[in-house]
Amino acid sequence: MRVLGLETSCDETAVAVYDGAAGLLAHELHSQADLHSIYGGVVPELASRDHLRKLLPLLKKVLESSGGPGAIDGIACTTGPGLAGALLVGSSVARSLAYAWDVPCIGVHHMEGHLLAPLLEPDPPEFPFLALLVSGGHTLLAFVRGVGQYEVLGSSLDDAAGEAFDKTAKLLGLGYPGGPQLAALAERGRPGVFNFPRPMTERPGLDFSFSGLKTAVVVALRGRALDDQTRADAALAFEEAVVDTLVMKSRRAIEATDARTLVVAGGVGANRRLRARMLAMGERHGVRVAYPRAEFCTDNAAMIALLGHLRLAAGQRGDLAISARARWSMSELVPPSAGLQS
Ligand code: KG4
Ligand code: ZN
Repeated sequence: MRVLGLETSCDETAVAVYDGAAGLLAHELHSQADLHSIYGGVVPELASRDHLRKLLPLLKKVLESSGGPGAIDGIACTTGPGLAGALLVGSSVARSLAYAWDVPCIGVHHMEGHLLAPLLEPDPPEFPFLALLVSGGHTLLAFVRGVGQYEVLGSSLDDAAGEAFDKTAKLLGLGYPGGPQLAALAERGRPGVFNFPRPMTERPGLDFSFSGLKTAVVVALRGRALDDQTRADAALAFEEAVVDTLVMKSRRAIEATDARTLVVAGGVGANRRLRARMLAMGERHGVRVAYPRAEFCTDNAAMIALLGHLRLAAGQRGDLAISARARWSMSELVPPSAGLQS
């Protein structure tokens, strides 16, 4: 089965084709980062309008390099969670194409796409595994028994890890999205100049809280000249605090579940310090740590086409209603055998 995937949940317009036998055939992405950067964050109305402009040209390009529309057996689009107007662009195009081509269509969960993205890699992790999902909108630990079988063990009570990176980057005078820029600035930081808390690690449990870290950065910088070196020192200490917290909680979850594999996915999963530290922790505990390649950590349609394939090839279907779910909990997801999902 060959599945077309469309992703328009936030500020990336992306299209991909995944084939059950040949794997990923094509994937294209247009980032709106430049469009939103002067506003310091994503402007929903601008995001929807830009998806409208970019989606069909990207689709044309992807289909031309992957055997054309006649070879598509099914379509998947992200229907949530995300910005409602942005989601509706992908959903409208996907359902319309499904109707015109007379192929099945399914709406899929964006975070489930992130979670299964490591399955795009040559030596994919096997179920069951523990997953740490760290993106701009979500931070959670889940035990994964199979597609649609997610037991959420802990999540952020306030800001997501990526959101904390973005807000702290803004404080340090960096542009949007701040995560990669803060990580680059941290490369020049001196260890030990600042020391920020590791939130919620001193008490049991697997929940996270990152909003206090941003306040700790504000307090530490109060009254100081914000020269380049000071900003870099603060960026490093902030990154260390987030990475340490994520590693500690993941280790705790490994001990609680006896998992032999840990998947780390979502935009913050592209962070080099996090990747290195998580790998080292995995080695110490005899646990395999699996990541998608960095470009499939951040938003993309390859993960949506793959997820669509996993569900459609197992017989699951959606209807032709154009739908968007701005909020959609992962714990509501069900295995493909459960039938309709839109
Ligand atoms: O998964 P993603 O692309 O979109 C969402 O579903 O939210 O994640 C985007 C988030 C942003 O907050 C961005 O700053 C962060 O991931 N991010 C990073 C890095 N690359 C992206 N954070 C830290 N280090 C990075 N290298
Ligand atoms: Zn995402």
